[in-house]
Amino acid sequence: MNDTALTVHQTARPYGFPTTDHFAVVESALPAPASGTALVENLYWSVDPYHREMMDDAPGGFALHTPLEGRTLGRVVASRTPELPEGEIVLHRQGWRTHAVVSPAEIRRLPRFDGVPLTAFLSILGGTGLTAYVGLTRIARLREGDDLFVSGAAGGVGTATGRFARLLGAGRLVGSAGSAAKVAHLTGEVGYDAAFDYHDGPTADLLAEAAPDGIDVFVDNVGGEQLSAAVGALREFGRIVRIGTISQYNTPDAPPPRFDHADLVEKSLRMEGFLVSNYRDLQDELHAFAVPHLQSGRLVEDTTVVDGFEHLVHAFLGMLRGHHTGKIIIRAESETPAPAPRGVGPELVAGPGSSGRA
Ligand SMILES: NC(=O)c1ccc[n+]([C@@H]2O[C@H](COP(=O)([O-])OP(=O)(O)OC[C@H]3O[C@@H](n4cnc5c(N)ncnc54)[C@H](OP(=O)(O)O)[C@@H]3O)[C@@H](O)[C@H]2O)c1
Repeated sequence: MNDTALTVHQTARPYGFPTTDHFAVVESALPAPASGTALVENLYWSVDPYHREMMDDAPGGFALHTPLEGRTLGRVVASRTPELPEGEIVLHRQGWRTHAVVSPAEIRRLPRFDGVPLTAFLSILGGTGLTAYVGLTRIARLREGDDLFVSGAAGGVGTATGRFARLLGAGRLVGSAGSAAKVAHLTGEVGYDAAFDYHDGPTADLLAEAAPDGIDVFVDNVGGEQLSAAVGALREFGRIVRIGTISQYNTPDAPPPRFDHADLVEKSLRMEGFLVSNYRDLQDELHAFAVPHLQSGRLVEDTTVVDGFEHLVHAFLGMLRGHHTGKIIIRAESETPAPAPRGVGPELVAGPGSSGRA
């Protein structure tokens, strides 16, 4: 174990897209656990769109020149409490740093399921998967045969939404994403029936081509023009699941989306947003649903794994610009598998659903 710790701080507020200039990596001595706590060496980190929202000067946002927060998986390496034995892997929220001191109340113990990689607890079984699951089962109240449109379909939540919707008996699945490669991934791997690159024209036209008979449910990760187009495409009693608004996080001057409010009345539409933090009680239900499918291979996680804590800020910035497919996870060097001996096939970096290294 190193005797120094690295911690990422935010040093300035961005206007528009953040850059590396808004962050600093601070080196310090390893923190020592006080009685009742344990020192954890972090192994896998999640960087998420909500971190961009927290970079703004808004209530509940990141304080400057202070360690940031984020979901991370780590191993207990020194303990001063019997509740956190050395060697245990825990999930906690003191991410963006190599080491953290945690109390038992601040961690979640992870169940271990045969054949399910640890990364799944930050992707399809973690907050990302839970968001997709809540969106479909509690907000859309998905019915068998419902036709869906999912914006941001190639991201973490979007891929999980597509895969879960297929398992839950959805009808036609249409997704939007930011590149031809992502579109190919959606229809070739994830199970979407049709997909389009939203850069290729007005969304209303692209959606009309991909879903000529309309949709019953719109799962919206993006907002903006895609939300406007989907309102027009929804059938009577359609549902709009508002998950996120990433098209607006880095464009503070963009006009708000416009859509025909009369459509909500005339077609009896329901639009509902939610925060996954209010649905943590469904975590075990998600495990009961998803784990058997993961174990049978009917469900895989779509993950891009980036190796090395030193790449965490770049990985975050790349996620905001759509450089990755699926859920992006940063992995500590210590967890990187040794290269395969000569003559052996390419390395599988994070389970069968991995979309490769960034
Ligand atoms: N409500 C909740 O509790 C909750 C929980 C988790 C996440 N969320 C929200 O869900 C959404 C997806 O989150 P995630 O973690 O799965 O992230 P993600 O989709 O894996 O990553 C973000 C993606 O957004 C897309 N994007 C960036 N700028 C865009 C733009 N201007 N227009 C359209 N797409 C754009 C990029 O993909 P492309 O290449 O396709 O552009 C990028 O890959 C976000 O809005 C997030 O805030 C909400």
